[in-house]
Amino acid sequence: MYLVTGATGLIGRPLVEALLSEGAEIRAVTRSPEDATFPAGVEAVAPEAIRRALRGARGLFVHPRAAKDDTDKLLRLAAEEGVRKVVVMSAINVDDHPDHQPSRFNGDRNAEVERAVTERALPWVAVRPSSFAMNTLAMWRGQLALGDTVRGPYAGFAEAVIHERDVAEVIARALVDDSLLGRRIAITGPEALRLDEMVPIIGAVIGRPLRFEEVPAEMAAQGMLRNGLDERFVHALMARYQREMERPATVTTEIETILGRPARTFATWVADHAGAWS
Ligand SMILES: NC(=O)c1ccc[n+]([C@@H]2O[C@H](COP(=O)([O-])OP(=O)(O)OC[C@H]3O[C@@H](n4cnc5c(N)ncnc54)[C@H](OP(=O)(O)O)[C@@H]3O)[C@@H](O)[C@H]2O)c1
Repeated sequence: MYLVTGATGLIGRPLVEALLSEGAEIRAVTRSPEDATFPAGVEAVAPEAIRRALRGARGLFVHPRAAKDDTDKLLRLAAEEGVRKVVVMSAINVDDHPDHQPSRFNGDRNAEVERAVTERALPWVAVRPSSFAMNTLAMWRGQLALGDTVRGPYAGFAEAVIHERDVAEVIARALVDDSLLGRRIAITGPEALRLDEMVPIIGAVIGRPLRFEEVPAEMAAQGMLRNGLDERFVHALMARYQREMERPATVTTEIETILGRPARTFATWVADHAGAWS
């Protein structure tokens, strides 16, 4: 049996599905077990009931947003209840300076959660994904509801965004298979794409002539601030774009090595979410 934290989220849901397809039993942690809609056979667990839920677990998945401030307590309980292995998710940029990790200004603590897991005595695996392809929906859906052009900064910024199912399937493999123990694994999509390449790919998949038009970074930052984004988040994001324009995007082949098939492409991700763009 495996205990999954963050089970109702972007990564948690496909992780539960991936573990089910491996034939695993699952307990899924959520703050709202009464509202949870997990597949049949998955037991929903409230955070308050976690000690009992850990009893008999072969593995624990630590989701950094769900566990965050409670990570130390969760790991102590896991050790006391005899859990054999812990898999933690963090992020590919987790070793960067904290000021260069925009998500920290939204409250995420990937570095601290990963460190808490890897410094414990329990056997561990740390999975470090690149940017989620899902971010493109949050960034661009609003503009694309109004027309065929996305206006944004740094058209030439490139990254190998990743499908949430690939993240989930690597985490599932790390839970059920001991060959990845003790590794910090950077996983990415199959190819780095510039922002002005990604938007036309969305268009090609959903059948619209979409394009990216670059605007000056300062103008884009002001727009984000007017839309209510945190000032430090916006500065960190712009700094990240600028810094990473100067170095090649990281692309790894870990997904292919671990799962025995290539990482899903961005076009595949768009097709899997085609309805979300209209
Ligand atoms: N976005 C990216 O490009 C990217 C890339 C790499 C790594 N990451 C990291 O991945 C994590 C986000 O993963 P995700 O998208 O799967 O998360 P998510 O869907 O936002 O959250 C997962 C689940 O955690 C619970 N949760 C959310 N906020 C919480 C809070 N404040 N306290 C307690 N529980 C909370 C919720 O479950 P319940 O409501 O059911 O309790 C939620 O369904 C972050 O740490 C982020 O930095 C993100």
